[in-house]
Amino acid sequence: MKRLETDFAGVKMRNPLILASATPSWDGERCHQAWVHQAGAVVPKTFAPPDKFAQHPRCGRMKIVRHGASRIGMINIELYTTIPLEEWLKNDLEKAHQGGSCIIASVVAHPEPEATGQNARIIQDTGKVAMFEINVSCPMPADNSQVGFQMGNDADMCYRQVQAMKKAVALPVGIKLTPTTHNMIPMAQAAEAARADFLTIGNSIRSFAGVDIKTGLPKLPAYGGYSGPAIKPITQRHVSEVARAVKTPISACGGITTWEDVVEYIMLGATTVQICTSIMWQGYGHFQTLLKGLEGYLETEKLESLSQIRGKALPHITTIDEVSKHPPMVSQVDPEKCTNLKKGGCELCGKVCFYGAIEFSPRLKLKPKNCDGCNLCVEICPVGALSLAPAK
Ligand SMILES: Cc1cc2nc3c(=O)[nH]c(=O)nc-3n(C[C@H](O)[C@H](O)[C@H](O)COP(=O)(O)O)c2cc1C
Repeated sequence: MKRLETDFAGVKMRNPLILASATPSWDGERCHQAWVHQAGAVVPKTFAPPDKFAQHPRCGRMKIVRHGASRIGMINIELYTTIPLEEWLKNDLEKAHQGGSCIIASVVAHPEPEATGQNARIIQDTGKVAMFEINVSCPMPADNSQVGFQMGNDADMCYRQVQAMKKAVALPVGIKLTPTTHNMIPMAQAAEAARADFLTIGNSIRSFAGVDIKTGLPKLPAYGGYSGPAIKPITQRHVSEVARAVKTPISACGGITTWEDVVEYIMLGATTVQICTSIMWQGYGHFQTLLKGLEGYLETEKLESLSQIRGKALPHITTIDEVSKHPPMVSQVDPEKCTNLKKGGCELCGKVCFYGAIEFSPRLKLKPKNCDGCNLCVEICPVGALSLAPAK
């Protein structure tokens, strides 16, 4: 669909949905499958200097995190690609590029930035990649060499990595920043100062997979990267903060499962999005499902392109100080919807009210004078019977 075509840092993509660097892009055939299933671009699994950083555990390295029956996220302890660069270029790149695939080569940031650039030059010489993404965000670097998220917390290092890459290659250069940080802005600003063409925000978040309480053993024996739906609020915080601080185009990556998630990220300032876990859980065909949803959205909203909504939400994000000045609200109930008022039974809202603003005597009775406008009863009501209204 023409309306989904996206110009990202000077590269034309058929749509803004990119396969993130991970397991589903580990070899040429897999990258090709993503392209066949309509991904707008593909980031092969991160290339690393093979001698040092390219090993990963083969004794179970992924753990799905569940809440009840729902999958909310996944923790993995997988490192970079295990295929040496020369081998990948010889055996996989041709396949990955088949059909004119738009390839964004992900290269691990070497402790010596010039070495990152040298690797990239070899890849650029093939003429088959469109852009580069520097990886300074792996949440479980294999040793203490500062490769990975530690480097991604060092603004000066981010600057030097981008600077060295820009010197080494002519293609657009982006940097994949780490969400394992209290503030991503200094790293984003450093990358922008070094003339990065785009920022990818972000990677999985350094985490722990939990403990098996029968055996007392950790569910995964090392710290790993948390990805999937659960991390979306964290990544959205970083994307929106950075989008307000820099002008460099953003590729948002974290917890995208539905086309609505994509729209949210665009409204927070992203130009493209990258997807990993939902593709791992649902297969490459999920790209087509997301694209169908986006096309329907453009149609319904009568939009010519997603650029019309880019950053739409940003001016409305304010400080807690400002929000505290807004007039107070209290909860109100719609008697047509409330299960308790109609037939008794449900008392869920009363259980979660910690202000004494909800009573059952014997049916639901709101006490607006006690209501603190916290909104939890509204959120918890299973039938949408409660809402907030200005306090009288
Ligand atoms: C099993 C696995 C392997 C990954 N490997 C890489 C990698 O080699 N390079 C990289 O930049 N990111 C890697 N990632 C991170 C993803 O590209 C992505 O940034 C992260 O999972 C967040 O997106 P998601 O919530 O859509 O999964 C990996 C993620 C997973 C789950």
